[in-house]
Amino acid sequence: MTLLDGRKVSNDIKNEIASEVDQMRARGEKVPHLAAVIVGNDGASLTYVASKVKACERVGFESTMVRLPHTTSELELLQKIKELNTNESIDGFIIQLPLPPQINTQKVLMTVDPSKDVDGFHPENFGKMALDMSTFIPATPFGILELLERYKVETNGKHTVVIGRSHIVGRPMSILMGRKGWPGNSTVTLTHSHTKNIEEITVQADIIISALGVPNFLKAEMVKDGAVIIDVGITRVPDDNHPKGYVITGDVDFENVSKKASFITPVPGGVGPMTIAMLLKNTLIAREQRKNKD
Ligand code: GUN
Repeated sequence: MTLLDGRKVSNDIKNEIASEVDQMRARGEKVPHLAAVIVGNDGASLTYVASKVKACERVGFESTMVRLPHTTSELELLQKIKELNTNESIDGFIIQLPLPPQINTQKVLMTVDPSKDVDGFHPENFGKMALDMSTFIPATPFGILELLERYKVETNGKHTVVIGRSHIVGRPMSILMGRKGWPGNSTVTLTHSHTKNIEEITVQADIIISALGVPNFLKAEMVKDGAVIIDVGITRVPDDNHPKGYVITGDVDFENVSKKASFITPVPGGVGPMTIAMLLKNTLIAREQRKNKD
């Protein structure tokens, strides 16, 4: 069994990005600038955004965090997005999800300028991705592709089973694994809450990508020998024995599933750090595209 070490690979990617930023600075060019908007006080979201800002500092990007109260109206958020769209110093920005219930997420995401949409959530970018056109690929699926590539995991002709059809992970992942090329060329099954007898499907999978958010959902009996296991789950499970009062738990029963897997991502330290590294990568791409327009 080989551990797909997202912590290590994401560090490698950050080093590669940092050296490109050093070169930009040495040439007297503007360095990439990422902004992150967070609405409300959700603990997990605040932690993710703080990690994104910290990662920007680590690679030499500029960063701006925009914190808005949970009472923010849709109109106020749309106004903020329009400011970010026209702010020449900002190359890319993200709106951390989920948003409070008074705000229509789809409307918000459609207001982001596609050229600054480093999350790849705008319908124009999502459509381009589905049509194999060059675009921003959502950071978590992009991170999974990068892990498969750097560990030279064979995907050609394999049966990939994706668990969960979220717009952020499951849906784009199912499209990307079926695309022509590598990583891709897989036969993809997208499973979700209405799938019947899911274990009969997962047991046939060569590659399982689980993005469900149910701790320890995927058990050893649901997996065939030699399968590749990608665990996107990062649920906070209350635990009084832990100083933070919770433990981050994946969708996969790692202890037992890892005994059957050929490759597996740990939680934490697998897909999570890759998401941040690929967001930085998208921001670097956004800067380069803006530079070419200048
Ligand atoms: N919430 C959970 N994952 C993500 C992500 O990748 N981007 C944004 N903006 N919000 C998220």
